[in-house]
Amino acid sequence: MIKTYCSPLFVLCTTITIIIIGFSEVCFTEQEVRRPCYSRDYGQGSIVCVCNSTYCDTFRPQLKPKPEILTVYESNKEGKRFYEKTVKFTYGSNLSGQYETVVTVNKSQKFQEILGFGGAFTDAAGINIVSLPKKMQDMLISSYFSPDGLEYSIGRVPIASCDFSTHDYSYDDIPGDFNLTYFQLTKEDHLYKIPLIQKAMNVSSFQILFYGSPWSSPAWMKTNENMTGKGTLKGEVGGKYYETWANYFVRFLKAYAAYNITFWGITAQNEPLNGFRDNFPFQCLGFTPDSQRDFIKFHLGPALEKAGFGPNKLQLMIMDDQRPLLPKWAEKVLQDPVAAKYVNGIGFHWYMNLVAPPKLLDITHEMFPNKFLLATEACEGSFPWQKNKVILGSWERAENYAHDIIQDLLHWSVGWVDWNLALDLRGGPNWVNNFVDSPVIVNATAKEFYKQPMYYVLGHFSKFIQRGSYRIGVSQTGSSGLEVAAFMTLNRTSVLVVVNRNANPVNLMIKDPELGHVVNTVSSHSIQTYVWQGKK
Ligand SMILES: *[C@@H]1O[C@H](CO)[C@@H](O)[C@H](O)[C@H]1NC(C)=O
Ligand SMILES: *[C@@H]1O[C@H](CO)[C@@H](O)[C@H](O)[C@H]1NC(C)=O
Ligand SMILES: *[C@@H]1O[C@H](CO)[C@@H](O)[C@H](O)[C@H]1NC(C)=O
Ligand SMILES: *[C@@H]1O[C@H](CO)[C@@H](O)[C@H](O)[C@H]1NC(C)=O
Ligand SMILES: *[C@@H]1O[C@H](CO)[C@@H](O)[C@H](O)[C@H]1NC(C)=O
Ligand SMILES: *[C@@H]1O[C@H](CO)[C@@H](O)[C@H](O)[C@H]1NC(C)=O
Ligand SMILES: *[C@@H]1O[C@H](CO)[C@@H](O)[C@H](O)[C@H]1NC(C)=O
Ligand SMILES: *[C@@H]1O[C@H](CO)[C@@H](O)[C@H](O)[C@H]1NC(C)=O
Ligand SMILES: *[C@@H]1O[C@H](CO)[C@@H](O)[C@H](O)[C@H]1NC(C)=O
Repeated sequence: MIKTYCSPLFVLCTTITIIIIGFSEVCFTEQEVRRPCYSRDYGQGSIVCVCNSTYCDTFRPQLKPKPEILTVYESNKEGKRFYEKTVKFTYGSNLSGQYETVVTVNKSQKFQEILGFGGAFTDAAGINIVSLPKKMQDMLISSYFSPDGLEYSIGRVPIASCDFSTHDYSYDDIPGDFNLTYFQLTKEDHLYKIPLIQKAMNVSSFQILFYGSPWSSPAWMKTNENMTGKGTLKGEVGGKYYETWANYFVRFLKAYAAYNITFWGITAQNEPLNGFRDNFPFQCLGFTPDSQRDFIKFHLGPALEKAGFGPNKLQLMIMDDQRPLLPKWAEKVLQDPVAAKYVNGIGFHWYMNLVAPPKLLDITHEMFPNKFLLATEACEGSFPWQKNKVILGSWERAENYAHDIIQDLLHWSVGWVDWNLALDLRGGPNWVNNFVDSPVIVNATAKEFYKQPMYYVLGHFSKFIQRGSYRIGVSQTGSSGLEVAAFMTLNRTSVLVVVNRNANPVNLMIKDPELGHVVNTVSSHSIQTYVWQGKK
């Protein structure tokens, strides 16, 4: 059942050592280039990589390939994880006709700038992470945020509780406390969020962008006096409930600032339409596009600005709800010039994508080119018909991630943010049993955690398309069904991500008009990231 997969590039070297591998010189400073995946097959299609108290796979790609050498990293259903190989560009050949698919990049076409990729610091993620021995907690955080891991650059933080908590709570459950005198962070912040966020900041080699999202206001501010079920803020826009709820955001930002955690952004409300559903099972607060517009215009925008969190300091995102609501939701809020001036971006979730083509993102972008679009939440296993919430080693779920990330990036999203960073074997804890899957599953009893195929798929984007990269043009001939997206990094490295969701391998030719072409096989059910530098 257990087999170990070794990688061709397993190099340990010190500052002055130079090791020649094929045609590339490799030199790294006091770091292992990679520790390979210690794989385990649970019979669910593909493998997971197991991390324990003494071992965890790592991966530092060589981001400065020699000119005219292309490096390709591949992960696939068969079991490769960031498998590395180099290929040389060649000029002037007439082979094109023999290749099923020819992908040509166009570096003079420039699309959106990329912000990054990330996941969420929920209570559930924190509970699972701290259930492991100290050293493994560091390992898990490093697996996501350090140069040895996925180099995530975004973190989402629920403002107080959500369904992935052990109970419902807010930061001020004292009815009628309009001055927020009794506002305070909870033990969940102190045990499961702040220390792990600080660890992530510590191991990252750049600034991680954090954004907060509230699920519900305190129950006493709501029409139904309950954090769950159908309910909105009491009273009217202009009233003291709206005013207090806006001030609550400011208090949250200041409370975290006291721990040196500076937020890059917030969303005005997680999934605001949930608050209009009868007996909605977990924390929610209803806003329509109109009431969100008015809340921002008369309360949240001014309160944030007054407290020094204006739109030039803190990115305020609207919607944070399902894609079919576009472009209408954005239109309703942003047509108002006063509300629009406080808003920086639009967040969207993936759960109803089947009825919402990515074209809706294009339409929204065309209407509001100055407001960014960001995929703010997604996870596998959330639907009632998905009986297995956690599937250890599902390649299909990884492919769903890959497909969605590529689609969003091809339609103007500036990044993609996953849901829980880690969950247990059931897909929780979740106080309303709304269990789902995660790229990292913790088995606390065994003192192990498992890196799912989804984890590696995220890395095929997050490790290579750093913040500040922008999407470039790419065209494709043939009908092999590959999904492709190309980017240019700040260091002028070209990055091409190729996803093959089919059962057949594809012979691919990549053309960079500046350098010639390379040919390679895209194995069945695989994801590949190609990186190369231009001339000089
Ligand atoms: C952890 O995994 C490694 C790699 O397979 C193995 O050699 C080691 O014995 C394991 N350690 C523990 C404590 O299980
Ligand atoms: C074109 O391709 C064929 C078959 O691969 C080869 O025999 C021929 O020499 C090539 N011609 C040129 C001009 O490269
Ligand atoms: C590349 O894109 C530019 C700008 O859109 C366009 O003018 C040019 O024709 C494209 N080149 C190719 C080979 O398609
Ligand atoms: C809230 O603060 C205001 C102004 O500081 C004060 O007048 C008022 O009495 C306070 N209300 C409560 C309930 O503490
Ligand atoms: C940050 O990292 C340094 C060493 O890299 C370590 O000494 C320190 O304890 C870490 N701090 C936190 C909060 O993890
Ligand atoms: C909130 O609603 C839930 C579900 O109806 C109910 O079980 C719970 O007791 C309510 N809580 C309060 C404080 O009323
Ligand atoms: C926050 O950072 C400052 C400056 O780096 C440091 O002096 C202070 O101790 C930190 N505070 C906390 C709570 O970590
Ligand atoms: C989790 O760990 C326990 C204790 O070692 C073990 O019995 C169980 O099989 C493990 N579960 C999985 C899915 O590996
Ligand atoms: C880009 O180049 C700079 C300067 O050489 C280097 O410090 C940095 O690490 C590079 N960034 C990446 C992502 O390769």
